[in-house]
Amino acid sequence: MRRFSESYLRRTRRGMWADSRAALADFDLDGRTRILDVGCGTGEFTRVLAEESDARVVGVDADLELLSVADEHPDIEAVAGDATGLPFADGSFDLVVCQALLVNLPDPAAAISEFARVSSDLVATVEPDNAAVGVDSTVESEVSLEKRVREAFLHGVSTDVALGDRVPAFFDSAGLDIVGTRRYHHQKLTEPPYDEDDVRSAAQKATGEGLDRHERDLRRGLDESYESVRRQWRQMGREVVRQMKSEEYRRAEVVPFDVTTGQV
Ligand SMILES: C[S@@+](CC[C@H](N)C(=O)[O-])C[C@H]1O[C@@H](n2cnc3c(N)ncnc32)[C@H](O)[C@@H]1O
Repeated sequence: MRRFSESYLRRTRRGMWADSRAALADFDLDGRTRILDVGCGTGEFTRVLAEESDARVVGVDADLELLSVADEHPDIEAVAGDATGLPFADGSFDLVVCQALLVNLPDPAAAISEFARVSSDLVATVEPDNAAVGVDSTVESEVSLEKRVREAFLHGVSTDVALGDRVPAFFDSAGLDIVGTRRYHHQKLTEPPYDEDDVRSAAQKATGEGLDRHERDLRRGLDESYESVRRQWRQMGREVVRQMKSEEYRRAEVVPFDVTTGQV
């Protein structure tokens, strides 16, 4: 199972759903009584569901460390479990949802079938289209290097991290009728004043640590040597750190998320 850190989820989810929640309209959150968020991690999305509804909100994850963070929230019930074998009876929830889970699973269709089993009404997914991410930065080499590394990652990674408009096919196979498909653009800005996560992320670029986490997938996907890319990456990271010290550094990233809702 692909692992994530608490700080990674905090940094990458920062501001998500804060600007607009219109893409969640098909969830009918006002009308829900029991919601399940599968692969909830630290509960970044589960908290949005709890804020927008009066439902009983349950978060499930296979990573107990992340789950313990979600469990700290008074309106979230955290349960350990696997997305392809959920520890709930048939029809236990009237909305079963996940955010950024399917792209990490070897068999996303099996998870959707399981969601359909434990839902009595709606099933929904919010999945990033990692092939359509856009980056801009005051460090010029960051834009081209991130593009090369992202393309290599997409090529080398063992799961499909850019499901995009193929998600509805999984819904069809699970016998779910599509209620709606929408797109949400998550914009992330790094600018002064930088917070702790920005500083950590820059340091991880400079040391190569961030890249090393994906070394195996990158080695499979790159058509040049990993060592050479890593050297250029670290040089770019040192420039990011330098610009941060003089408060010149700015970075903007847009990640499109496809929101698919279906009915049992
Ligand atoms: C990218 S994170 C997304 C977390 C959260 N949904 C969010 O958007 O912030 C993917 C999450 O799925 C969990 N996960 C991966 N495979 C899983 C599985 N088979 N069953 C349950 N959780 C799983 C990971 O532990 C991680 O918390």
